[in-house]
Parts: sequence; structure tokens; C-alpha cells
Amino acid sequence: MNAPVDVCAYRQSRPWWRDAVVYQVYPRSFADANGDGIGDLPGIIERLDYLVDLGVDAVWISPFYTSPLHDGGYDVADFRDVDERLGTLADIDALIEQAHARNLRVIMDIVPNHTSNEHRWFQEVLHSEPGSPTWEESSSRFMIRLGKGKDHNEPPTNWRSVFHGPGWSRLVLANGTITDYWYLHLFDSTQPDVDWTNPQVRAEFEDILRFWFDRGVDGFRIDVAHGLAKDQQLPDMDYASLPQSEILGLAPGAPYWDQDEVHEIYREWRAIADTYDPPRIFCGETWAPTAERLALYQRPDELHTSFNFDYLAAGWDADKMRASIDATVANHLKVGAPPTWVLSNHDVVRHATRFSPTSDGTAVSATSHFDAQRGLRRAQAATVFMLGLPGSAYLYQGEELGLPEVFDLPGESRQDPVWKRSKGTDLGRDGCRVPLPWSDNEPNYGFGPTNASWLPQPADWANFSVAQQKDNDASTWRMYQRALEQRRREPALGDGPMVWVDDAPEGVLALKRFTNDGDQPSVVIAVNMSEEAQQLPSSWGADALLASSADVAAVTIDESEHLVIGPETAVWLRA
Ligand code: NOJ
Repeated sequence: MNAPVDVCAYRQSRPWWRDAVVYQVYPRSFADANGDGIGDLPGIIERLDYLVDLGVDAVWISPFYTSPLHDGGYDVADFRDVDERLGTLADIDALIEQAHARNLRVIMDIVPNHTSNEHRWFQEVLHSEPGSPTWEESSSRFMIRLGKGKDHNEPPTNWRSVFHGPGWSRLVLANGTITDYWYLHLFDSTQPDVDWTNPQVRAEFEDILRFWFDRGVDGFRIDVAHGLAKDQQLPDMDYASLPQSEILGLAPGAPYWDQDEVHEIYREWRAIADTYDPPRIFCGETWAPTAERLALYQRPDELHTSFNFDYLAAGWDADKMRASIDATVANHLKVGAPPTWVLSNHDVVRHATRFSPTSDGTAVSATSHFDAQRGLRRAQAATVFMLGLPGSAYLYQGEELGLPEVFDLPGESRQDPVWKRSKGTDLGRDGCRVPLPWSDNEPNYGFGPTNASWLPQPADWANFSVAQQKDNDASTWRMYQRALEQRRREPALGDGPMVWVDDAPEGVLALKRFTNDGDQPSVVIAVNMSEEAQQLPSSWGADALLASSADVAAVTIDESEHLVIGPETAVWLRA
């Protein structure tokens, strides 16, 4: 079935990041080596072979810097050290070395929009006297402004926090003095936004990049990449026309997102990354209002890639998926960059649950009746389809096990500031951060050597465990492994061109992939999004290289061979 092709020369001729499959580790929930209930760097080192077996090219590790963990480590107190609960600098050095020895790249997470309020810089603000030289210097590193109104007791603007509630808090000094100043925090009030117009901020982050690049890190995922530049006129935002979900998300037109000035920062960063051998890379967590605006971040002298959240948000909807793919591919082509696809991460409801059909047709929530089996089946199909798209792809830990979202975590165990700031009206993101089940017969499913776990794991997760799935050909894990293996074997996947196949049956999205030079076999990638089995045209061939379910059969009709694929199933065919 798999014609042997020599893909090595082809693959080596293009930079690794253009079509890499990157596995996201959320370190607190991946593997706990020391038994304190919090996943750690030694835990990741112990599982590097697992990632090699799965077949990914790189690992992106969410923040492990020193942090009070008010936002899972996205509140950084020291950008040049490792949180003691997660390990040491020696551990990350060992992790990089051992990953590289296995041909795995290591991507870290940089958080340049804000620091923790425990960061040295913000502490300097809290311990200085307004008007003093120390105050002038330290406060200018943050978005700290005088309040409005007679007593300065109104915030400088009406900007809202992405985590619910106001985006500004009054600045109260360490000695209890209530000042006339307010600080901006587009996220939690423990995450003050830094001011990127200050050259000290720019110099500091450039130095942080070098600190980690010098240690051998292959690249950075950039947190809130679209948020660093703010409109310095501080205009109020017109929220009136926006639904709540957008106020908490991209909020189109907001004077703090996707400002043109942000691109200057990435030009400086790219110049630094390019001085390394091999060049280091960036992937932006970039929320932009259109595919056109998103592609600007991937101009040749800026970021290498950015997540395409429009595709993630398209859901299980053929028209939206197709429109998103078209807009993304077309706009990325203009700047010569590969698109980047993602279906799950540590901020969204896991896609095995998100894709579940509900009894009333609305989006899945904690209170809806939904069909989890079909959700998983759709998620498997969506992943197989996504891995056939041009460009790179990101996988989130646990999706290879088909893990569902955990909606019923007890309130007292929830830690997400979104839950806290919304006073429990928004469940937040803890449900996709529950520690992984590795084994089916140990405390905490083998997450760590004790039964401690920073979030409780559901009682019925044994079936999802790695132990139960790795040797079971019908498992989600094996499906991911087969997909990644096949992707590596196919020179037509990854970075080559695509065209839609227009004779697809109703409810089927299909596209054809070719190698750039066109002299290698091509592949048809198809997903049947309908609820019925579909007979594919014989011109597509009947040679299934990969399928998301066992519901696939070659049949002979009128003397020609067709593939018939089950409902909610994706396949790759040799065309
Ligand atoms: C995006 C990160 O993915 C999320 O987890 C975090 O809470 C916010 N940025 C703030 O840093």
C-alpha cells in the first residue's frame, strides 16, 4: 500500500518549521516526577521517548518560569529562571540536550505582554515614591497612568480584561498608599501590562531571547503576540456592539490589539533569531481580525508562523472550515509563509468535546446533553484532515488520547483566574488542563509517584490511559501515531501546494496535495462531514493510506474501484 519513496532529500531541503508537527506540553499537567502533584521538567524528560514514539517533530512547553502561578505560569516573576516546583535551569538544559539527541526540537513560551506583579520590575514600582527618580524609571516600564476624574478615582479608559471585569486597577503601593495612578492588566490583576514604547522593555526582552537561545532553545511561541503595542492616545473602546465572547476575545477594533507598531518589535526579534545557527524560530499566539491581517505577522522579516485560530473557531462546519482554509492559504502565500493549524490547546474546550453534537444544536457547555462518542469520532476525523493541510500543525497534550473536557471539577479545586474573576459564571480553562492518565492501574493514572494531583482526575479515565491505548490498533493514540508516520513518509504533505477537488460528494471536503516540484505521488485528503456513508469518485483511487475510523472499504461498482467512507470519517488516498 505504501510505495517506498525517498523523502529524506526533499524534507531536508526545506526548513524544519515549515511543516513541523509540534506537541504542546502544559508542564503542570503532563508528568510529575517528584510526586508533589504538579508536573515538572524531569517528568517531561522521562517521557521524551513517548513523544518520539508518537512521531512529533518538536515540543512546545508552556511557561515554566518562576511564577506565583496565578495564571498557570503566564504570570512570570523571573524570565531567566525555572519555577522551583517545576525544576531547575539544569533540568531545562538536560531536557534540551536529551530532546536534541532524539531529533526533537524544543520551543519555549515567551510572555512579553505582561509580567507577574511579583516580577522585580513591578516590585520596584510598588516600593517607590511617586515622583521620585526610581518611580519615574520603574513606572515607565508598565502601562501605568494617572486616573481620570477629580480625585483620579476613575480608570484612564474603559478597557476590559480578557478574564472578565475591568482592565485597570488602582495602584496601591507596598506600604498601603493608594496612589492617583492605575495600571493596565488586560488579563488578571496580577499581570500588569508592560509598556513597549519604553526602550528598556525592548532591550530586556531581547536579552531574554538571547539568554534562552544561547542555551539551545529552538524557538519561542509568543504569548498574546498581537497585544504588545497599545494606542498611546488611550481612546475608550466601543464595546456596545460586541457580544460578550468577543469582548473577552479579540474585540475587533480594540486600541490594544493588532496595532501596526507591533510589527516593529518582531522585525527586531527576527533579526536576533537569524543570527543563530541554526536560525531560531517564532510562532505567534496571534489573534487578528482577518486572515489578511494575520498573514502580515508572517512577512519574511517577522514571525515564522502564527496559530490560525479562525480555523479552530470554525468548528465542525464544512463551509466555515473551507472558507478559513482558503483565506489562510491565500494570504499566507502572498507573504511566502506556511499556515499553522491547531484544534486544541490549554485555553479552549478540548476538541473531542467541542465537536460533540448537542441535543439542542447549540455549542457544548457544562449543562448541555451531548454525544461524546460522536464528538470523539469527529475530532479524530478533524485531526486526520488537519494533518493533511499544507503547513505546520500543533497538537495539545492528551488529544492523542481523545481526552474529553472535564466540566465537573469541584469549584474549590479550580484555579483559573477566569473562574475566579467571573465569580464562577465562566468555568474557565481548568477542564482542559487535567493531568494526563498514563497508566490504568496506579494512583493518579501514573501521573506521578504519589496520589497527589493539582486538579482531580475523573474516575473513568482508565480507558483513556496511554497504557490502554498504545498497543490497541483501534485506539485514538494509534490513529495519531499512524497519521504522523504517514505524514513523514509523504513528500506531498507538509509544505507543498493544495487544490480543492470539486467532484466531492455532498458533505465531503476534499483537497489534493502535490510536492512543490510535482514529481512525487500526490495525495487526496478528504473528510466526510455528513451523517451518511459516502462513495468517493473512482478517479480519486481506492488506496486508503490512512483513515480516522475503521469504517472505510474499497468496493467495485460498475467495474471501477471506489472507496466508501463512513459518516464523520477522514481519509488520505494515494491519488
Ligand atoms: C494566552 C495564554 O495561552 C493563556 O493561557 C494566558 O492566560 C493568556 N495568554 C495571558 O498570558
